[in-house]
Amino acid sequence: MNIKELIKNMTLEEKASLCSGKNMWETQNIERLNIPAIMMSDGPHGLRKQVDKSDNLGLNISIFATCFPTAATSACSFNRSLLKKMGQAIALECRENDVDILLGPGVNIKRSPLCGRNFEYFSEDPYLSGELGASFTSGVQSLGVGVSVKHFACNNQEKYRHIVSSEIDERAKREIYLASFERVIQENPYTVMCSYNRINGVYTSEDESLLNKILRDEWKYTGVLITDWGACNDRVKGLKSGQDLEMPSSNGINDRKIIEAVKNGDLDEEILDRAVERILNLVFKCQNKPPYYKDIDNHLLAKEIACESMVLLKNDNHILPIKDKTIGIIGALANKMRIQGSGSSKINPKKVENILEVLTQENIVYKYAEGYSLKSDKTNKRLLKEAIELAKKVEIPIIFIGLTENYESEGFDREHLNLPHSHNHLVEEIVKVNSNVVVVLIGGAPVLMPWVNKVKGILNAYLGGESAALAIVDILLGKVNPSGKLAETYPLQLEPTFGGDNAEYYMESIYVGYRYYDKCKKQVLFPFGYGLSYTTFSYSDITVNKTELSEDEILEVSFKIKNTGNYYGKEICQLYIRDIESSVYKPEKELKEFTKVALDINEEKHITFKLDKRAFSYYNIHENSWIVESGEYEILIGSSSQDIRLKTIIHIKANKDVLSPYDKLQIPSYYDLSNGFNITDYKKLLARELPPQNRSIKRPFDYNSTLKELSHSFVGKFLLLAIKIHIRKTTKDKSNRLMMLRSMLDIPYRALISFGGEVFSPKLAQGLLLLMNRRYIKGLKVIFSKRGRDII
Ligand code: BGC
Repeated sequence: MNIKELIKNMTLEEKASLCSGKNMWETQNIERLNIPAIMMSDGPHGLRKQVDKSDNLGLNISIFATCFPTAATSACSFNRSLLKKMGQAIALECRENDVDILLGPGVNIKRSPLCGRNFEYFSEDPYLSGELGASFTSGVQSLGVGVSVKHFACNNQEKYRHIVSSEIDERAKREIYLASFERVIQENPYTVMCSYNRINGVYTSEDESLLNKILRDEWKYTGVLITDWGACNDRVKGLKSGQDLEMPSSNGINDRKIIEAVKNGDLDEEILDRAVERILNLVFKCQNKPPYYKDIDNHLLAKEIACESMVLLKNDNHILPIKDKTIGIIGALANKMRIQGSGSSKINPKKVENILEVLTQENIVYKYAEGYSLKSDKTNKRLLKEAIELAKKVEIPIIFIGLTENYESEGFDREHLNLPHSHNHLVEEIVKVNSNVVVVLIGGAPVLMPWVNKVKGILNAYLGGESAALAIVDILLGKVNPSGKLAETYPLQLEPTFGGDNAEYYMESIYVGYRYYDKCKKQVLFPFGYGLSYTTFSYSDITVNKTELSEDEILEVSFKIKNTGNYYGKEICQLYIRDIESSVYKPEKELKEFTKVALDINEEKHITFKLDKRAFSYYNIHENSWIVESGEYEILIGSSSQDIRLKTIIHIKANKDVLSPYDKLQIPSYYDLSNGFNITDYKKLLARELPPQNRSIKRPFDYNSTLKELSHSFVGKFLLLAIKIHIRKTTKDKSNRLMMLRSMLDIPYRALISFGGEVFSPKLAQGLLLLMNRRYIKGLKVIFSKRGRDII
């Protein structure tokens, strides 16, 4: 197929139509030219293909598919090949169901532990996120299914996600937020999905510097750039900036804008042709898939990944694994397992075991008490009492607690780091009657553990996918030796940097995750890279191929690792680099390599890591490039970010000496974090003033006004009411309703049009907007506003 010829035969209207979706999930087909449609589905930890009613929040039913552990969980495996296998397994389900593009992986950085969507992302560390995202991508694409790496970029909170502007300095953007995408781009993902937010005031879907300059020119990306669902703002500007495909669709409005812009000379037709060419390349690539056969048992693969990902946080007196002891299972989450988060990633699994079923299958005798109700966070006295009585009668009470559905989801952020009160209370009461408590923690993000010193064991099971119960039981009983390590820091408290209404000022610059806690020497609950095993490992004999090298040479770091305990086990060895003396501000250390090694009892292996100059570079904003500074660097080999076992120093000679861009800036708070960050230094770093974070209602309303803003008008209230009724009809699940409402409130009017289908036609939208700009319609106002508030 000669695509260039084909484009020559297309009318302007046909070209414009190809640049937005035909419906929620498909691209436009053009029968006249034999151009087929392609099908996309969420992602990322399983296939969410909807065949009947469609939505982008996981409310309507999707076909049965395997629910793998979510990214927050699988990241703790630090296992590239497992992520690849998971990608392949999901791709096979895509193939079986005629899905061409899987909407994932999500490689956004966990900037704040509060982000409601952290369960869908890998890590606070860009190297780890990038490596795992790349492995997943290569797995999916090896079977002829494309990915959509998302959400590009700096989309690190759900609150105001459609309108927020991430105010960020260029160095943090490059080193922290873009680096994981940059790595995945090396795998040629079929598509990249822009995020909803703006970066420094510009919507990512029309950010020329992000799309054309960085992604296309610098990273040489030739695939298709799609918008997140409803993220298109100015279609013509988007096209000019490198955006190809708007999803789901603008119901023809934006097609007309494209046509008009070409006709009146505002849009060069060549730009449109280039976007069409990329889309057609994708469409035809998707028609030529290699043959496939399926030899994977996905339920077992999901279990294997869960087994490698769960993190043993505490194991005093070797309370685990449990051998010949009477056990009590306490907590509703053991019975009604929470295996994934809510929103567009929600999978409809065929088979989900719970803990009680698995124990019964294994012929393990246990007693069970519910402990708390999943319907409320308040302690249920009767359930608590039953649990205490049970705990008195067994040798080891195993308490299942965690974040429930109302706590974490796409569409909103958490407000604090606490577990539900009834869960903490349950643990506090049980430890009073039994000193051998083991906690199994469920949830997709860090929580505070006020009872941490009172329990003997903690297994962090995260959101383990459909086979979570199988993995948990195997770990508790010692059939599997836990080998996951935390891909994010568990803090002791919520730091002021995150949350609150100033969250969109990325004042902390590059100090994200352990880079922050390390630099200000803050104690944490559990550090990045931490996780226990039933066995022990010893590290020895670090050597390097050279102690003096030029920046273009490869450094090889070798060491030995030995299993010195009594169980077969796997260890995640981590390599961090510390720049001993730098002219720019830098974290204490940064992860630059890792591997997972399997070792029999007494077995020893020799590990070699290779590092190129990128591992030693920082992003210089004056040079607009990655720069290595001459000097000494410490190579640290650790079992966690805070358990460094081996060290050595090397010296690098840079090709040229480059001045620090911060020499004349006077930004002391970035060198010494003891007094926190301040806005004065931050503005110097950005070299500009900050936009006010004004959330007051802007009038007159326009297509970017949010539903919440619009609801301050009479007609807007009515619109909100209609949406609430729609939500009520769509789902009976209260947490789903809450999630949908919370995310709808921040949605801009323009996005409503793209989701509204035929009901919410452009004409109707325009008419309503006119009405909304009239203050109120007398008389009816009160009735509707009251009803609107109460309906959910
Ligand atoms: C989410 C994306 C998802 C898309 C389609 C959006 O709301 O942000 O991650 O892929 O919907 O469901």
